[in-house]
Amino acid sequence: RNRDTRTVRDYIRTIVDFPHEGILFRDVTTLFADARGFRMAVDQLLTPYAGEPIDKVVGLEARGFILGGAVAHQLSLGFVPIRKKGKLPGAVLSQPYALEYGEAVMEIHDDALQPGERVLIVDDLLATGGTAAAGIKLCERLGAEVVGCAFVIDLPELGGRKLLEGLGYEVHALTEFDGA
Ligand code: PRP
Ligand code: MG
Repeated sequence: RNRDTRTVRDYIRTIVDFPHEGILFRDVTTLFADARGFRMAVDQLLTPYAGEPIDKVVGLEARGFILGGAVAHQLSLGFVPIRKKGKLPGAVLSQPYALEYGEAVMEIHDDALQPGERVLIVDDLLATGGTAAAGIKLCERLGAEVVGCAFVIDLPELGGRKLLEGLGYEVHALTEFDGA
């Protein structure tokens, strides 16, 4: 039998014209649904941080929860969710960020991170970087230090990596897609 040589990228499905015409939607559900693909993705997300002291994993709603929860478990660390406005039950800090049309708000519990804690931010995809930048800001407003941002997919044409690296953050992505 031949060895399975599929990479993380091979498990990502492209849906044409979703959510609207002209968009190639990179669908990670096919990656998450495959035991081998999901494990590879989680392992590769945390490999760059092996040996680095990290206190918490922060996941960005919604797909960042699936990956971030698995990364936290693998590193035996706690997991902190950053959620869309109105979902967290306790006292929160709120951070607005730009969307394609208009603005949205991300929130974190105001006691979720301690000053000086070192966090790894996890999400499925980096596009404009607006979501990740809002997540970073929320962590920093609590006094935490962002050690890095880990994504499965980077869409370099949308400039998110440039934005985050320009702000001095370390960005890791497992694969890139052009023509986003
Ligand atoms: C997508 C994706 C990232 C974000 C990236 O999430 O999962 O979180 O967009 O875009 P950006 O870099 O331009 O900010 P989406 O807002 O669609 O929500 P979901 O994860 O809850 O589906
Ligand atoms: Mg998202």
